[in-house]
Amino acid sequence: MTDPLWFKDAVFYELHVKAFHDGNGDGIGDFRGLIEKLDYLEWLGVTCLWLLPFFPSPLRDDGYDVANYVSIAPDYGSLEDFREFLDEAHKRGMRVIVDLVLNHTSDQHPWFQEARSSPQSAKRDYYVWSDTDKRYQKARIIFIDTEKSNWTWDPVAQAYYWHRFFSHQPDLNYDNPVLQQAMLDIMSFWLDQGLDGFRCDAVPYLFEREGTICENLPETHAYLKKIRKRIDEAYQGRILLAEANQWPADVRPYFGEGDEFHMAFHFPLMPRLFLGVRSEDWHPIVDMFTHTPPIPDNCQWCLFLRNHDELTLEMCAGEERDYMYYAYARDPLMRRNIGIARRLAPLLDNDRRKIELLNSLVFTLPGSPIIYYGDEIGMGDNVHLGDRNGVRTPMQWSADRNGGFSKTDPSKLYLPAISDSVYGFNVTNVESQRQAPHSLLHWMRQMIARRKQQPAFGRGALTFLRPKNDRVLAHIREHGGNLLLLVHNLAGSAQSVDLDLGPFEGRVPVELLGGSRFPVISKRPYVLSLAPYGFYWFNLEQKPGDDLSYGMEGSVL
Ligand code: GLC
Ligand code: CA
Repeated sequence: MTDPLWFKDAVFYELHVKAFHDGNGDGIGDFRGLIEKLDYLEWLGVTCLWLLPFFPSPLRDDGYDVANYVSIAPDYGSLEDFREFLDEAHKRGMRVIVDLVLNHTSDQHPWFQEARSSPQSAKRDYYVWSDTDKRYQKARIIFIDTEKSNWTWDPVAQAYYWHRFFSHQPDLNYDNPVLQQAMLDIMSFWLDQGLDGFRCDAVPYLFEREGTICENLPETHAYLKKIRKRIDEAYQGRILLAEANQWPADVRPYFGEGDEFHMAFHFPLMPRLFLGVRSEDWHPIVDMFTHTPPIPDNCQWCLFLRNHDELTLEMCAGEERDYMYYAYARDPLMRRNIGIARRLAPLLDNDRRKIELLNSLVFTLPGSPIIYYGDEIGMGDNVHLGDRNGVRTPMQWSADRNGGFSKTDPSKLYLPAISDSVYGFNVTNVESQRQAPHSLLHWMRQMIARRKQQPAFGRGALTFLRPKNDRVLAHIREHGGNLLLLVHNLAGSAQSVDLDLGPFEGRVPVELLGGSRFPVISKRPYVLSLAPYGFYWFNLEQKPGDDLSYGMEGSVL
């Protein structure tokens, strides 16, 4: 039987079917195209794919506006194509989770069309209606750059409907037990196809209660526990991953007593990783972990640098938010909502050292890492595209037409491919990086492989060493007697650091990538030198091994 805690050792990869590979040449990625690229993902070493919504949708929120939960958008293929894709992924040892958009539907969903048509309609109570737009005034507006209110007047229904996101995304009414059951059935539909779980979208907002901010309500947790119960009863080994863009203390309840979500993204940590490297200081990163409560043993954080949305600054206030904008989005074109709509490589000035450093942090801090498609080759963005489309452009496979994404006329692509002189597909693509042994792609592949060899990364306890040199972040991961020491220079200049490794006296740090043995640890401060943005992954081995003899040496003839 497979380990139900597999997700703790997993390396996740987020992709949009639309953006990955076009199998039929119409300019839109599809499941047939994705199947052709599974060998690549297997080669890279990722073990769980997260697919963005691929359901029929008017695409006014890139598929998060679902118009039918139990079907595939025809542009992406058929249910058979999906099943074949799932089989092929499973054959290669990869699991697959998809988005479950619980909070809202598209206004084009037949439920909403029926609901608005008459107060007597059976679906009326699937949504949240009101005669006034003054209810739930304490709830904030999430998409502040496009929405003015959480209520929109519907002339057909002759009533206001509630929505936490775009006004074309009416919120579902979880006070309605029939709707609750309908969403459970949708979940079962996909799990019955063999799916390995869900990334559950926007979970804090399921219920509304007067006088509250309408986030993280006890009623919401109670419903989420029902979902989990269904998984535990009928779908062992499948997982639920929460999108709750909240402070750690507010995310903690989403794990329940190990009876709600298996995983949750660590939203507040993400901008602190960028802050840490920009300010050359470990405090923002370490402080975030002091704010992070312990989670049950059967749960796991999901760590990420970028995703399909803007780099959200909702969990940064005041000076930190200002600094992030100043440091990473000086051009207003780069800003979206409360955040920055750029990809990893351009955020880090395409500096290979910084890209590796930040990836190394998400690979070594507690949690399972998730890679956003294209970031493994350092893809760029296009800030001139509207909404968050600038980070959703076609995957760059080669220097061929459309970056090898599609054979179609470039004007027919769902979004233009990146073609500038630094990040364009002519220079930045999978084919060229596979041929170059020292490319970012090969580096990512190697780090993924190394990480998978050390269960302590996914499962180990964490201790920060807090050296006096605040430019060097040092932490220990420990699991079953295995000790890893991770040291990261957050600065753009060479650094020396004294580490107090007294408790590990007698052990020998063995560098995990090259296998070199470092001086044995004593009571004295352990001195390390690090190149700009340099880092080490060490295994602290128990005893100096016996000297190995090689070749002719030592042999008795
Ligand atoms: C989530 C998604 C985002 C979407 C929003 C509304 O935050 O990540 O892309 O716009 O939900 O559905
Ligand atoms: Ca296609």
